Amino acid sequence: MNRLGILISGRGSNFEAIADAVANGSIAAEIVVVIANRPEARGLDAARQRGLNAISIPSKGLDREVYDHMLLEELHKQQVDLVCLAGFMRLLSGSFIRQFPNRILNIHPSLLPAFPGLDAQHQALEHGVKITGCTVHFVDEHLDAGPILLQAAVPVLDDDTVESLSARILREEHRIYPEAIRIVLSGRYATEGRRVIFS
Ligand code: GAR
Repeated sequence: MNRLGILISGRGSNFEAIADAVANGSIAAEIVVVIANRPEARGLDAARQRGLNAISIPSKGLDREVYDHMLLEELHKQQVDLVCLAGFMRLLSGSFIRQFPNRILNIHPSLLPAFPGLDAQHQALEHGVKITGCTVHFVDEHLDAGPILLQAAVPVLDDDTVESLSARILREEHRIYPEAIRIVLSGRYATEGRRVIFS
């Protein structure tokens, strides 16, 4: 059985979408640990209510390498084989990423490479794009930059606010993140340069 480790910083709705897919059997895996870098992350309560192993490892004030080492210890202890970043608002160090080659996924609320970094939905509105969306990608050492697994497009409406646009994107996030995890766990893909080809 595949062993998932989920990293969160806040609300945890993507974590919940993944947990639902695990619970209904559409992802053949077990969530062995949910880790938040912020103790107040709401997703921790949701994970505990589901009876999952949910722990807080606060990152505040810690050097990146020191913090990532703490994370690695916990993930290795739980024998995690796929790490899913689900609203985890921290950059990971190269030494962390090299421990999980092609085994760290992230979801981002834009059609990358447009609007990386913080407040992607706000960036999309400010730029005036008519279509934005979300992306699930492998994590490499650059911000929101690794090979893309899945994307979904979402229209920007004239009367959208950051909140209304974010909500519409979030619905697609909850659909494509579990789907991307299924693809990675099935192994039915190959990477050619930056391209991820499904087989
Ligand atoms: C999601 O919209 C996710 O795409 C975004 O944070 C939100 C987390 O929501 N992630 C990023 O912006 C990463 N750069 P959630 O905690 O309810 O899953």
